[in-house]
Amino acid sequence: MCGIVGYVGSRSAVGIIVDGLKRLEYRGYDSAGVAVIDQGQLHVRRAPGRMKALEIALRERPVTGTIGIGHTRWATHGRPSEENAHPHTDCGGNLVVVHNGILENYLEIKERLLADGHTFRSETDTEVLAHLIEHHLKAGGLLERAVKQALREVKGAYAIGVISASAPDRLVAAKQGAGSVVVGLGRNEMFIASDIPAILSHTRDVVILEDDEIAVVTAGSVDLSTIDDQPVQREPVRILWDPIMAEKGGYRHFMLKEIYEQPRAITDTFRGRIAPETGNVILPDVTLDPSVVRGLQRVIFVACGTAHHAGMLGRMMVERLAGLPAEADLASEFRYRDPLVGPETLVVAVSQSGETADTLGAVKAARLRGYPILAITNVVGSALAREATGVLYMHAGPEIGVASTKAFTAMIVATYLLGLWLGRQREAITAEDVRKRIRDLVEIPRLCEQTLELDGSIAALARQLSGARDFLYLGRGIQYPIALEGALKLKEISYIHAEGYAGGEMKHGPIALIDEGVPVVALATRDGSYDRMLGNIEEARARDGMIIAVTHAGDRTIAGKAHHVIEVPPCADLLAPLLTVIPLQFLAYHIAVRRGCDVDQPRNLAKSVTVE
Ligand code: AGP
Repeated sequence: MCGIVGYVGSRSAVGIIVDGLKRLEYRGYDSAGVAVIDQGQLHVRRAPGRMKALEIALRERPVTGTIGIGHTRWATHGRPSEENAHPHTDCGGNLVVVHNGILENYLEIKERLLADGHTFRSETDTEVLAHLIEHHLKAGGLLERAVKQALREVKGAYAIGVISASAPDRLVAAKQGAGSVVVGLGRNEMFIASDIPAILSHTRDVVILEDDEIAVVTAGSVDLSTIDDQPVQREPVRILWDPIMAEKGGYRHFMLKEIYEQPRAITDTFRGRIAPETGNVILPDVTLDPSVVRGLQRVIFVACGTAHHAGMLGRMMVERLAGLPAEADLASEFRYRDPLVGPETLVVAVSQSGETADTLGAVKAARLRGYPILAITNVVGSALAREATGVLYMHAGPEIGVASTKAFTAMIVATYLLGLWLGRQREAITAEDVRKRIRDLVEIPRLCEQTLELDGSIAALARQLSGARDFLYLGRGIQYPIALEGALKLKEISYIHAEGYAGGEMKHGPIALIDEGVPVVALATRDGSYDRMLGNIEEARARDGMIIAVTHAGDRTIAGKAHHVIEVPPCADLLAPLLTVIPLQFLAYHIAVRRGCDVDQPRNLAKSVTVE
């Protein structure tokens, strides 16, 4: 949550920072601000609301300078207002701090500083850090030294950027626990950012900060060390994402573009990892010891939100393809419930961003117990990738829309590959079976393209449904996580109340919700649950629910029972969620657009949830 961008070089910093912040707006959009140093003077502009408000403020009172930092905020301490917007200054107005995370002991430090004569203008924890750095700077020494001294005193999570008029040639960045900080390497110019898309149009070479590290960045150098003054050497990483991938490319919203990118994201996730001739799945970065893999007794998927739904599907992949008992747990529950996990357990953490605080917390809790950890993530070098024993990158490309779409389908493919790989390693599945399942997978991008043709008809359906107050989504077996995902998509972007339920649970409570005003989206593809889903459809119809059935093309039985039928192409059972989720993504999207909601940046949400 919150986005940070910094620049130092010979170009005008403001445009570069504002452009970068706009690309990071998905991380928070309560307020924004920028600070630059010009001829030894620090200038700050801030505005509550979206980036547009900051741009207006900058037009009205322009600033210039070749070094600066900016921030887009998701409020944790203090309401979204100009005073609480970052950057925050010290008393003297000579240095500024931008911050992502939460400082737990800020009140205690604030008391001390108040007693020392400091006065505060905001309700934020971040302003306290600016004053604390100022306090140390007054004692003399370099800016980075004062930052280190201050950081040794704070408890909590942070990713920060600092500039000071007393050291106008340098940006100082540091991180501990919250989100990522990347340093972008240019020619006689450097960047800092919370996420790669912010700087991708300037450079693809980045150095990624680890926890407890600080970077001192000038136009020509990057100096890394730990907060405790140990020097750090790190090679840059080359990012292969195309800058165009982080643009809307003619689509009205990032979410719509990302829905349409799914065939490619799916292909990129399996490309180079399957050998159809030999029936092998090749996952070189899943660096788990073969003896550990053979000895596994259990697999636990930990994740949040949409990634948790992918984890629930992962559980089924592992059970069916590798014959291993598996579970899927919410990361926020797993990390605090002291789980009884045996030593032969593989923990698989699934996260698009690789920086979700609860998922990282779950991984840390698992690591303390000594379990091997596999990360399934989309972001190369993310905190999660670095915490894990092995990594399976999704290769979905940057996902900007707050509502996850292509990352979800890429996660499903990654868990399918994992299931096949574990199955082969443990000899639970034959090479012939893997060959067949690879053929099934290779078919999916084409079937996905066909499914995308539903866009127009679902837009028409959305016209009829956009006034509904509640929705019910039902699915069984492999379609149950898709029912949850469909409901999550609808509520997060259209603000309509929606419940996802396992079909069998309907009669245990949610059936009471159904009347003629409640659309019931029933996932009724022809798999082992089909007859029982038909039963659920009948029960919902008998209570006057409006049935929208997602089923396989040409299903006459369903056509006679549902008010609206959405047909997806048939495919292998385990892969069917890759197709059935697409109409549900479109449905949420078109309903939200009709209701005038901000699809890419829904209220109260942020793309990466880097606080608990
Ligand atoms: C998805 O639409 C959500 N916005 C959200 O549930 C998301 O999936 C969750 O926060 C986990 O994010 P991650 O995959 O980056 O860990």
